Amino acid sequence: MSGSAGSSHTNKELFERACRVIPGGVNSPVRAFKSVGGVPFFVSRGKGAYLFDEEGKGYIDYIQSYGAVILGHADDRITTAIDHAALSGSTFGAPTLSEIILAEMIVDRVEGCDMVRLTSSGTEAAMSAIRLARGFTRRDKVLKFDGCYHGHSDALLVGGGSGIASLGIPDSIGIPRDAVSNTIVAPYNEIPPIDDSYAAVIVEPVAANMGLVPPNAGFLEELRRLCSENGVVLIFDEVITGFRISSGGASEYFGVIPDLWCFGKVIGGGLPIGAFAGRQEIMELLAPVGPVYQAGTLSGNPLATAAGVTVLSLLDESMYHRLASTAERLAQGLNDALTNSGIEAHVPRVSSLVGLFFGSETVTNYTSAKKSVSIGLYPKFFRGMLNRGVALAPGPYEAIFPSLSHTQIEVDRTIEAAAEAANLLIDRGAVNC
Ligand SMILES: Cc1ncc(COP(=O)(O)O)c(C=O)c1O
Repeated sequence: MSGSAGSSHTNKELFERACRVIPGGVNSPVRAFKSVGGVPFFVSRGKGAYLFDEEGKGYIDYIQSYGAVILGHADDRITTAIDHAALSGSTFGAPTLSEIILAEMIVDRVEGCDMVRLTSSGTEAAMSAIRLARGFTRRDKVLKFDGCYHGHSDALLVGGGSGIASLGIPDSIGIPRDAVSNTIVAPYNEIPPIDDSYAAVIVEPVAANMGLVPPNAGFLEELRRLCSENGVVLIFDEVITGFRISSGGASEYFGVIPDLWCFGKVIGGGLPIGAFAGRQEIMELLAPVGPVYQAGTLSGNPLATAAGVTVLSLLDESMYHRLASTAERLAQGLNDALTNSGIEAHVPRVSSLVGLFFGSETVTNYTSAKKSVSIGLYPKFFRGMLNRGVALAPGPYEAIFPSLSHTQIEVDRTIEAAAEAANLLIDRGAVNC
């Protein structure tokens, strides 16, 4: 598929140029093609379900900025809102009306959530939620789950999924042992021993950074029960699931209400944003009301809040229904394309989030996710899809994100591409696909 004339640069040239001034040529490791081979394509523009690279090649895009873009790229309503906001000034260091409106929209949609503090990224949101939980409980220990990713702050960068997993890095050097000495890591989907020594349990209610792993029946409910019993703050990291899997996010979808939430991605309409939110009793411990300090020069940025308010105002029930139907068609089609070709695979789906695991085993945690990835088919499938104009994430531990711009046409073309890529995996012994 070719979309525009393209620039005079090839992706290879741009990658070499990028590597001279940007470590690894990318500003976030998940964008590297290290785990799938080859060089990244450099995006010149996106529109709706499509991306176009600097060579002029078009792709049906399922990365969608790792979930930050739910309407599709360059949606006219979002770009108009951003233009309008920018004309009035891009940042002030003083409060604005659109921060209030975005916070009200979040509070209205999420049951049990009274107050919101905006940040500029999901990393900040999760890091700050942990600090707040520690301040509230006056305890230090935090429990997280293996393969869940909560951003790259020191205390949470243990047992992380996403880029950490794709690159096969155990965690990260440069983190003092003391910074993680109070972080306990437990297997996802197993009920950990929780007692009153913990400040917080943080969990992705649908794990979407080790591939897509839904919570087992009762898992979230039991975490809620144990946290309540022991005075532990339960944090749902909904940076991916928030306002994506339903209008009230995962807490509404599963009917389990945490004490604190982390949001990001969707609520910024594609601009840098994050948020943490929760019960008033906890949130009012934040400075300037309380003694837990947290801040940010660009927090609640007017461009990001304008985009966020616009996107949330457009996401009504009919949109969620449409997005979930698109995802259902995609998941079923991918599953059929792979299994009809004799390839063992699973295509999990939760509402509009889709995953892909090769192998016969159902994946329920990071150990089984890694086992599936070790089969080694993802890089070959990824390249087969990319060669056919379909961009999946360049790493096996990411989710597949259809947007509201993906229609039956894009989904059916994706499924056709998957059938061809799958047949080639078999025919050519999984080489040169
Ligand atoms: C569940 C989850 N939490 C936190 C983050 C960190 O967000 P950000 O990349 O905006 O810092 C991510 C990023 O992918 C995420 O998926």
